[in-house]
Amino acid sequence: MNDMTATNLKSAFGGESMAHMRYLQWGAFATKEGYPNVGNLFQAVAYAEQVHAANHFRELKNEVGEASVTAGAGFGMTTTSENLQGAIDGENYEVEQMYPAFMAVAELQNEKGSMRSFHYAIEAEKTHAELFAKAKEAVDSKVDFQEDTVHVCDVCGYTLTGALEDNCPVCKVKVEMFTTFTTEK
Ligand SMILES: [Fe+2]
Ligand SMILES: [Fe+2]
Repeated sequence: MNDMTATNLKSAFGGESMAHMRYLQWGAFATKEGYPNVGNLFQAVAYAEQVHAANHFRELKNEVGEASVTAGAGFGMTTTSENLQGAIDGENYEVEQMYPAFMAVAELQNEKGSMRSFHYAIEAEKTHAELFAKAKEAVDSKVDFQEDTVHVCDVCGYTLTGALEDNCPVCKVKVEMFTTFTTEK
């Protein structure tokens, strides 16, 4: 594998791994703050980031060595509204800066597997940014996120609320390949 694509994959693996763990923390915090549906959303999106980390990891195959991580995300737990803003900022950074740059390098280097892995991530992160924005709007009005059920594609991490469609719109797998997260009552 070309060095620059390998470096970018390692960085993305690190960023997704941290996002996974960060969202689990922020999710537990949201539930404790009285926003269980926001907690469930964070848990579902944490799973989606795990899917991305696993995809990147698989593409790295037998690569070894150091890895530095680029991630435009926040730390700490202040309020659920601020945590959601941190999540939105992190997702937008990935959609607008990180993945387009990684994708451009992968295309230049004709790294097809990495291109697929980056494509899946960028499309899913767009859905995450939108869902977190809706959740923040609710929390800023002092109500919980409206949706208590969130579906995540096991293959690409695409995330949605409401009814499942026939196939994943990004990677085209059947609905059976989605994992559903529902708020515990
Ligand atoms: Fe995401
Ligand atoms: Fe998918």
